[in-house]
Amino acid sequence: VPEVASRAHLESMQQVIKQALADAKVGLNDIDAIAVTAGPGLIGALLVGVSSASALSLALDKPLYGVNHLSSHIAVDSLDNEKKLTPTIALLVSGGHTSLLKVNNLVSDIEVLGATIDDAAGEAFDKVARIMGLGFPGGPIIDRTANDGDFAKIQFPRGLSSSSDLINHRFDFSFSGLKTAVSRYLEKSADYKKADVAASFQEAVVDVLITKSISACKESGIDSLVIAGGVAANSRLRQLAVDRCNAAGIKLSIPPIQLCTDNGAMVAALGSLAINHGAKPSQIGIEADSAAAIAQIIW
Ligand code: KG4
Ligand code: ZN
Repeated sequence: VPEVASRAHLESMQQVIKQALADAKVGLNDIDAIAVTAGPGLIGALLVGVSSASALSLALDKPLYGVNHLSSHIAVDSLDNEKKLTPTIALLVSGGHTSLLKVNNLVSDIEVLGATIDDAAGEAFDKVARIMGLGFPGGPIIDRTANDGDFAKIQFPRGLSSSSDLINHRFDFSFSGLKTAVSRYLEKSADYKKADVAASFQEAVVDVLITKSISACKESGIDSLVIAGGVAANSRLRQLAVDRCNAAGIKLSIPPIQLCTDNGAMVAALGSLAINHGAKPSQIGIEADSAAAIAQIIW
């Protein structure tokens, strides 16, 4: 419920800022700049964040950086990884987005190579977990359930992977047919192991994600791949990515699991990259944009 979400942001804002400063053992005057998500996302929640950050920036006389939530998923990798982040291919997989990106410069130049044409990868995990009666959020539960299963037991479809699909949707994804296939399988099979269904479904998702990411690296001549977003926490995705990138001579980086979903760390990381790249600070009064495209990186 968007209204409840923005109210919760408002009520928690001061406490969260106090707690973050206390955990980091710094005061407001020790920080160099304020970074905030300006889009995309729920408009009410974005407005609370942008207003609070603007007020802090004015009161402390520190520069403000409005940043893109999607790019910040990728930027968080820089916290744990000394190597230069660009140019790189990036696979962004979360509950709301699934995109394959060519990152020429993380603070100024990102191209979209492809995206999902229906459900996001995380959404597919969540929906299939619900169909299987496993609970929410589905990603971690399917990941755990799949541990005891056989991923080769059931051949579920790989979306947009046929040779004709590859002509028009080379780097796009589709997961809704897979969700339907799982649902049909459950209906018509009297006897199955949940672990096998979970493992086979998970394999169909991660196989397509990695196959297309590696093709994007090869075709663009970029030998570096970053995988980011909540679904990057998936253990099979991480394993398969390591194996196939090793075989293809591609440098792989995936942020540590706890950073894949830590929005504060993500936004601070992108703000800090913006400063280091000499990006101009944002104006006080920037407008939050609930539907911001990935190409708008710093406001
Ligand atoms: O990036 P994120 O925290 O939120 C968005 O910005 O959407 O991603 C949340 C998504 C959820 O759909 C959740 O099921 C999925 O990430 N997820 C996983 C795993 N952990 C979280 N999916 C697959 N395997 C996991 N281990
Ligand atoms: Zn996200």
